[in-house]
Parts: sequence; C-alpha cells; structure tokens
Amino acid sequence: MRRKLVAGNWKMHGSLAENEALLSGILAGMGGVKADVAVCVPFPYLAQVQAKLTGSAIRWGAQNMSQQARGAYTGEVSAAMLKDFACTYVLVGHSERRAIYGESDELVAEKFAAAQAAGMTPILCVGETLREREGCITEAVVSRQMDAVIAKCGVAALARAVVAYEPVWAIGTGVTASPDQAQAVHAYIRAKVRELDAAVADGLIIQYGGSMKANNAVELLGQPDIDGGLIGGAALNAEEFLAICRAG
Ligand code: 13P
Repeated sequence: MRRKLVAGNWKMHGSLAENEALLSGILAGMGGVKADVAVCVPFPYLAQVQAKLTGSAIRWGAQNMSQQARGAYTGEVSAAMLKDFACTYVLVGHSERRAIYGESDELVAEKFAAAQAAGMTPILCVGETLREREGCITEAVVSRQMDAVIAKCGVAALARAVVAYEPVWAIGTGVTASPDQAQAVHAYIRAKVRELDAAVADGLIIQYGGSMKANNAVELLGQPDIDGGLIGGAALNAEEFLAICRAG
C-alpha cells in the first residue's frame, strides 16, 4: 500500500515572518493527518525551516539544485549543500524550470542523478503544455521526460524517487485536470514503469500537481494511481494546505 505524500512547493514566496506563521499554523493542525507531508522552500529559508521542523512529522526540501557537485558555478546550489540542511526532497524538472530557464530532459536527468547520489529523494516533475495536450501528445511528452531519467539512472532509481505529474495548463491557472484526466496519465506512467519493473511501478509515488485545492483534493486523491499532491498556491495558506493533507 502506497502512502500518500502531500508536498508544498512554495515557489518564490515567503519571508522569515510569513514562513514562521505558515509553519506554526501547519504544525498546529497536523493532528489527524495520515499522509506524509513536506514543504519545498526557497534556498535562503532552508535553515529556518530545518530549525522549525526538526523533530516534527513534516519533511522539507528545495525546489531546484545544480547538477554539478562543486566549483565555479556562480549562483548555483549543490546537492551536498542541500544535504547540509537535512533536505529529504528536491524538485527536479519543474515545468517553470523547463519553460523559463530552458532546462532540458537531459539536464533534469543529471540533476536527478546528483540528488540521489547525495542521498536525497528527487521529485521528478513531468507534464504537458496545453498545446501538447491539444495535439494529443500528452503521453509522448511524459514518456520522453521519464525516459531521459530512466536512460541515465535506470528504472531501479525510481524506487528512490517520487514522480509529480503536473499538466502545465493546470499550474497556477485555477483549471484543474479532472480526476479522470489526471488518473489516465498517472495510470499511463505507472504502466510504462511496470513494463520495465513491476515492483518499482507498484511502489512508485505519483503525485498530481496543478491547482489542487481543498475543494478538489478528495476527489483527485481518491483516484487509484494518484498518490499525493504537489501543491503551489494552496500551500501558502495553513488551513488550505492542511485540508489537502487531511484528504490524503
Ligand atoms: P498551483 O497549485 O499553484 O497550481 O501550482 C502547482 C505547482 O506547480 C506545484 O509544483
């Protein structure tokens, strides 16, 4: 039985004061939450989040990292640096990184490998744009994004990773994939992995992300292949985030 994982992706939001209030609110409401819970926060706040969440049931992570181990890479942050702040997770290949910063499937695969080499669990984000969905190539796009990681790291590496299916057209738009639409892609991803390794497929946590809110989480999380959520906007409000966690 797969445990649900609800993770907040704060994106470029927050401040010391806002984070303190948000985390205090989440911690106070964790009673009755059965899902695993995590927050992926901006780099400068990792120390704050580590201090606040150490000893709690909530894990934390980052939203991006360098594929390089160290060196003259101005502005970059390595996997080892994230480990210094006890990160459990790191997002790789979020659609905003792919679209705005031009991250290729191969670069994402390198980051995935570097995260695992450092002992973190990468959350590999995949998903199609609206144009790709309308062109009926959703499965081909998601397949290509998965294949880059499988080619570099092997299917067994997915046993130490999480996949997040995030249709780009649903991110930050208020338009959620219907439970059926999301379930269909999640089932496709799991079937694809099952062709290579049934045990890995059965254990793989596949989160849904894209305008998941308290009012649609129960239905989405009730789908057989949806194992959690990667939450953007709704993760910035303690009550809303907790309601999603409780739905898991
Ligand atoms: P929203 O929940 O704001 O649509 O963002 C989803 C997302 O991109 C999480 O990584």
